[in-house]
Amino acid sequence: MSVVTTAVTDAVVAGKKNSPLAQRIKRDPIAWIGKPLVWAVCLAPLAWLAWLAPTGGLGANPIEFINRHLGDWGLRILLVSLAVTPLRIVTGWKQAVRFRRLIGLFAFFYVVLHVTNYVVVDHFFNWREIFQDIIKRWYITVGMVGLLSLTSLAITSTKGWIKRIGGRNWNRLHKLVYVAGVAGCIHFIMMRKGFQIEPLVYAGIFALLMSARLIEFLRRRFFA
Ligand code: HEM
Repeated sequence: MSVVTTAVTDAVVAGKKNSPLAQRIKRDPIAWIGKPLVWAVCLAPLAWLAWLAPTGGLGANPIEFINRHLGDWGLRILLVSLAVTPLRIVTGWKQAVRFRRLIGLFAFFYVVLHVTNYVVVDHFFNWREIFQDIIKRWYITVGMVGLLSLTSLAITSTKGWIKRIGGRNWNRLHKLVYVAGVAGCIHFIMMRKGFQIEPLVYAGIFALLMSARLIEFLRRRFFA
């Protein structure tokens, strides 16, 4: 990312060395190039869906296709947000954490769309049926745990909330992201039923990301 941002920055600065925009980009390439790039990449799966819909690309069961597409991307982006800290640990690139909140909010956004599709299109606001589903189908119950965790994280993601509850409590609360990760992976494994590789790959990536944090925690505790 930093190579790309530096290259783009240099190109812009070479063209208009002293323009206010070029100066701003040079001062904070993450805000002016990195974050817009994250927006573009995270919105691409939604744009892809919008492209497939009118072109007949949603297959024989469009509701299922949309639900799965949104669920998959919710989980993928959640895993990317969990990869930010290990990336900082491994590369030492401290600025990486500036992307974490935005990526986490995109994960929440896709999960909300995933659930909205389930409630509105799949069940047409039939709350009785939805409630039955939540208590009878375990993978939906587990999904709800993930949704509630992500919702608390999204609500408290602002600077105002950090001030209101204090940095320490905020950090504690934001450990819920691990609950969301576990819930997302278990939800996927249970939903697919039987032995299937794909959900296990996601769970494996999650376990790997968690081990990186654990190793760092133990290193700091016992060797730093
Ligand atoms: C952190 C929260 C959640 C994540 C990350 C997530 C992610 C996923 C994933 C990855 C799949 C499998 C897609 C595939 O087969 O490729 C899935 C399926 C599904 N999810 Fe979620 N989900 C979450 C929460 C929920 C909630 C709260 C509900 C409902 C209230 C829900 C309803 C469903 C349903 C009905 C399916 C199965 C669709 C089908 O049978 O085709 N999910 N979800």
